Amino acid sequence: MNLPDEVAGSLLFAGVDRTGLEIAAQALRPLSFGPGQRVFEAGEDGHALYIIQRGKVKISHCNLDGKEKMLAYLTSGKIFGEMSLVDGSPRSATATAVESTVLYALYAEEYWSLINRYPRIAHNLARILAQRLREMNHEVEVLTFEESRGKVAYALLKLYRQEYGRETARGRLLELTQRELSDLAGTSRETVTRVLGEFQRRGYLSSEKGQIEVYDPAGLENVLYDLE
Ligand code: CMP
Repeated sequence: MNLPDEVAGSLLFAGVDRTGLEIAAQALRPLSFGPGQRVFEAGEDGHALYIIQRGKVKISHCNLDGKEKMLAYLTSGKIFGEMSLVDGSPRSATATAVESTVLYALYAEEYWSLINRYPRIAHNLARILAQRLREMNHEVEVLTFEESRGKVAYALLKLYRQEYGRETARGRLLELTQRELSDLAGTSRETVTRVLGEFQRRGYLSSEKGQIEVYDPAGLENVLYDLE
């Protein structure tokens, strides 16, 4: 079996040669999920990491008051579930397929034998974790200090930097609803609608039902750093 391009092209396999990819293909198990179906729940034991071939996965967490906090939306080529695999602790968040989704699971045993032969894969996983930690440090700052425009700008930039969605001639097309964006930004739907309208007038993006095309990430960054 050959790995699909989206999986072979994930950061986890950066710098791994063809033979390594063939061995990885033997170790990975494809799994399908329907819209709304759970991949796993926060608190469960975790024995696998997952690479998204296609579809969309929501990573979320329930606060003590039962409110769902959105941590991320992930699409093709992205990885999740690596934290429990690495440290053996329970799942830190819940993963749910938002639409029809195909994942490739790498179970712990296969992971260990793969990184024994290809230590590069373990290093790549460390890179993924380092990126997430950087993002989180930034996020703590933004969520503590920024007003709602900054929160929306930040959520859009985060998706942009994670290469969510797809590249277009003018920028990047993010396929997500205003509801999803407001959950991610931690603001109300009404605020997102108002702020997107403003960003559109400024030429940073255009927004239509279920999709936002970002043209000017630098403009969004200026919102964040009050440089407009
Ligand atoms: P794990 O703890 O095994 O299960 C939940 C997964 O969600 C976790 O691994 C990460 O892969 C992912 N995850 C947790 N927090 C975040 C976050 N803030 N952004 C993106 N992904 C996350």
